[in-house]
Amino acid sequence: MSYKSRSIKIVTISTLLLLIFTLEPKGQFFTLPPLPPDYKFGNILINRTSEKNNVKPATFSHWIHRQKHTCRVCHFELEFNFQVNTTEITEAANKAGMYCGASGCHDGKTVFGHDRPHCEKCHNGNITYGKEKFSELSGLPKAKFGNGIDWVKAMDKDMIKPAHYLMIMPLPLEGFTFNKILLLEAEMFGIPPAIFPHNPHIQWLDCNNCHPDVFTVKKKETQHFSMEKILQKKFCGVCHLNVAFPMDHCNRCHPLMSDYWGKY
Ligand code: HEC
Ligand code: HEC
Ligand code: HEC
Ligand code: HEC
Ligand code: HEC
Repeated sequence: MSYKSRSIKIVTISTLLLLIFTLEPKGQFFTLPPLPPDYKFGNILINRTSEKNNVKPATFSHWIHRQKHTCRVCHFELEFNFQVNTTEITEAANKAGMYCGASGCHDGKTVFGHDRPHCEKCHNGNITYGKEKFSELSGLPKAKFGNGIDWVKAMDKDMIKPAHYLMIMPLPLEGFTFNKILLLEAEMFGIPPAIFPHNPHIQWLDCNNCHPDVFTVKKKETQHFSMEKILQKKFCGVCHLNVAFPMDHCNRCHPLMSDYWGKY
């Protein structure tokens, strides 16, 4: 190949790459689910049995609860699933100290319990119940999407100190470097890799929340790992659609889609 044709080729390829990287990626490749307002992001109505039993659906807000407890407490110790209306929560179980009624939670001592007149604080069918308290979070570091809060920074700066366990203190792990950032190369030409930092995740979660059911314990060994699947609530999409920052924030996972790379 002559010098000239090679340099033309390089110019063409770099123009192509430049084009890909400068495109505003949002919505170019995928249809993302619509985002609720910040104060509603992560709020759910639990209604597996409520209305069938003549009470209003139970309201639950992630931003209220995650200030005090990490995901691990509820989704590992208390065994709530990562999918609304799939956990077999019953009022009898709550009263017996499981689920919402666990000791240190809605036990009637720490916070309001499962007795009158408190029923309607949960069973009110209002998904934005407690909305007025959202303004109390305005001092926390900002993020672009979801609750508009950078929960990782908020925890790093000790602005929130959520408890990481109720009963079972997780064992310190040796021989595993959490500060290593995994580079997950995308299976598509020209797409900058996604990153997976263990460190911020294990401050919120338990290894068991992801391993071995969601991810293989070996980089790039997880099968059928693609954005299409993620948007179907698989893999990263187990959390990054409706509780952790949503998929709209391309560059927080694909840092080279913008200047976010510098942060790491
Ligand atoms: C105080 C307890 C509590 C904490 C803390 C908590 N969750 Fe949840 N979460 C729940 C409950 C309860 C449900 C509903 C489960 C059900 O209905 O089966 C839920 C549901 C979910 C869902 C499914 C939402 C949907 O729309 O289907 C996801 C995803 C989730 N949680 C992720 C997280 C993440 C990530 C964190 C940490 C940032 C977290 N949760 C912290 C209690 C909690
Ligand atoms: C801290 C929140 C909370 C409080 C307080 C609470 N509940 Fe519940 N309750 C729930 C949740 C969550 C469920 C599971 C709802 C579902 O899956 O539809 C539930 C389920 C129920 C059910 C469905 C059937 C069953 O037996 O599980 C009934 C009936 C019920 N609660 C009645 C009550 C009454 C009456 C009170 C007050 C004396 C009360 N609850 C207080 C959270 C609460
Ligand atoms: C939020 C989800 C999540 C949590 C929590 C999590 N991991 Fe991972 N882990 C991953 C992903 C994603 C990969 C890469 C999988 C792939 O590329 O197929 C991975 C890979 C690994 C690997 C292989 C690394 C390599 O270089 O091949 C090890 C070891 C590992 N995790 C250990 C742990 C331990 C120990 C914990 C708990 C302290 C933990 N993980 C918590 C998501 C998680
Ligand atoms: C089990 C839940 C869960 C899964 C699965 C998960 N994450 Fe997260 N991730 C979180 C939570 C919680 C945070 C804290 C930030 C927040 O809540 O917005 C977070 C934060 C992050 C951050 C921000 C780190 C920082 O320093 O600001 C990145 C990047 C990230 N996740 C990428 C991924 C990728 C890529 C995957 C899939 C390989 C993934 N996550 C899977 C829950 C999860
Ligand atoms: C929560 C983290 C996360 C966010 C946010 C995210 N991605 Fe991804 N993306 C990934 C992971 C993980 C892969 C797969 C890497 C692999 O194959 O191992 C991926 C792969 C891709 C691919 C390659 C094709 C495919 O389907 O695997 C494209 C294109 C892509 N992402 C574009 C985007 C765009 C555009 C956005 C913003 C709208 C975005 N991503 C937001 C984590 C994320």
